Amino acid sequence: MKTDRFPSKVPSFPIGSYNLRGIKPEDACSLYHFMSDKEVTQFTSLHAETLEEVQSWIELMMEQFEKKQSIYWVITQDNRAIGRCHYIYLDAIHSRAEIGYYLAKEYWGCGIMTNAVTAIVEYGFEHLKLNRIEARSISRNYGSTRVLEKVGFSKEGTLRQHTFRAGEFFDVEMFSFLNANWQQLRNSF
Ligand SMILES: CC(C)(COP(=O)(O)OP(=O)(O)OC[C@H]1O[C@@H](n2cnc3c(N)ncnc32)[C@H](O)[C@@H]1OP(=O)(O)O)[C@@H](O)C(=O)NCCC(=O)NCCS
Repeated sequence: MKTDRFPSKVPSFPIGSYNLRGIKPEDACSLYHFMSDKEVTQFTSLHAETLEEVQSWIELMMEQFEKKQSIYWVITQDNRAIGRCHYIYLDAIHSRAEIGYYLAKEYWGCGIMTNAVTAIVEYGFEHLKLNRIEARSISRNYGSTRVLEKVGFSKEGTLRQHTFRAGEFFDVEMFSFLNANWQQLRNSF
């Protein structure tokens, strides 16, 4: 990533009839709605027990943006957050970052996350000039691995028993997308 490419404000994009925009303190209640849902967070490292936890996360996310370490978006419908996605571990030396994403259960299976991830991947390659975007997904999280495949990520391998959650070790799939692959895909349209 070119450091001069880091935005001074999180950019907004329309994705179909939804929008992506930067996370704000006012999103705490709508984020709490799905980040406290065990079905949504079962394969992820973040689960909110209280609204206060979500408020603290938002503060942390905004601080990390100021330090040019991460970019956090919310997916909105009529300006209400129904999901979120992000770049973390933004690394200017190696021009790489990792993505992650969550969507409220009521909206699953409508293509929303495929569109949202495509939009932030395009932003990462075209604007931030990332060379490599990474994603990790618990093998059993079929929806998440399918989103990555549909967007164009390649599976690199399995991190065996990488994550311990709820008394169990889970295998994790390592995915990546390279800028060169993105350019090839664009040129084939
Ligand atoms: C994973 C998640 C983001 C998918 O979002 P979504 O908007 O429902 O995904 P899409 O509608 O864009 O679907 C993309 C593909 O995945 C498939 N898919 C979605 N959920 C699925 C599931 N639970 N099982 C199997 N396939 C699934 C869809 O059928 C579609 O594939 P297709 O076009 O070949 O039919 C959403 O289920 C979610 O937020 N889960 C909880 C949080 C999470 O696990 N995040 C990832 C952490 S790494």
